Amino acid sequence: MSSPAFLPQLTEQEVRALAQLPLEDLTPRAHAVSLEYHGTSVFLRGLIEATNHCAQNCLYCGIRRNNAKVRRYRLSREEILAIVERGFAFGFRTFVIQGGEDPCYTTEFLASLCEEIKNRTAGKAAITLSFGTKSLAAYRSLARAGADRYLMRFETADPVLHEKLRNGNSLASRLKALDCIRESGLQVGSGFMVGLPGETEETLIQNIMLAGKINMDMGGVGPFIPHPDTPLRCAVQKPIELAIRATALLRLMLPHCHIPATTAAGSLDPLGREKMLAAGANVLMPNITTVEHKKDYQLYPGKICIDESGFQCVSCQAMRIASVGLSISWDRGDALRLKERSHVW
Ligand code: 5AD
Ligand code: SF4
Ligand code: FES
Repeated sequence: MSSPAFLPQLTEQEVRALAQLPLEDLTPRAHAVSLEYHGTSVFLRGLIEATNHCAQNCLYCGIRRNNAKVRRYRLSREEILAIVERGFAFGFRTFVIQGGEDPCYTTEFLASLCEEIKNRTAGKAAITLSFGTKSLAAYRSLARAGADRYLMRFETADPVLHEKLRNGNSLASRLKALDCIRESGLQVGSGFMVGLPGETEETLIQNIMLAGKINMDMGGVGPFIPHPDTPLRCAVQKPIELAIRATALLRLMLPHCHIPATTAAGSLDPLGREKMLAAGANVLMPNITTVEHKKDYQLYPGKICIDESGFQCVSCQAMRIASVGLSISWDRGDALRLKERSHVW
């Protein structure tokens, strides 16, 4: 479908006003914008959690370096390729390959993996990588090797909270890395968590403003869920409604953005993903990682779908998508700005 023209972004004043609306007024507005720009299609992306080794120690994360209780795993190149081939035969046209900042997954390893994925899928599958902060040269070499997109949430726009929760890593360095991703030519995915301890109502406004400034092509919002084996174990669980509100505001700020209904939302509330789809989300990411590893990739407790294969999830998700009046799309679902450009050229 052709999408409407890009509109100027919301001002901070407008975001503040929208943030005050009751959810029942806010979410239909966001859903209407999503329908206008993306139609009723919900894109499916096959998620592969490739390694749970991580050199970082983010305070909120269940696979942080210092969590000795995690059973660590690292999929081999052939294991990842086998999942991709199965997923491609099933119909997936985007693979999101994600992991911690694992030093053994070098840029060369990831680049060569991308090349081989392109070979084995006749160039038809889009590749999204998510392995944390890297140099501009590294992002460039991944783009050259065939990666299409890169996901890296900014996590929170509050610089003080950011540095504290990301164990000394600054918001500025995260934003610099996001700039490098953009400069390398990769489509830019980012996003943030909602309900972190220390967050205020103002944080939500600033998260939305920063998302607008980054002008992300893809953006994920996830409710923070305290993990018992992290320093944030005693944090209070905030209600799902906060994350739904953030999703709706994000949709209104960035009509063209691809916004997933996140697994964290589905883990916190059995209808969390449906609520996000009804509030402007237009992507779902079935987790097609081998079942034996899914339970070892728990950034937060209570993660859903760990006993099902992602291929079983597809029929479950199709019902969930239909329950909110939407339908599955197996298209690659590239950034709309690229589609716009291809109309011009
Ligand atoms: N609760 C919810 N989301 C989390 N993430 C990490 N830890 C948690 C948690 N405890 C999110 C971060 C990260 C993404 C991969 O998962 O936003 O970027
Ligand atoms: Fe590592 Fe990402 Fe977890 Fe931080 S959030 S510890 S970078 S996997
Ligand atoms: Fe995985 Fe329902 S989406 S079992």
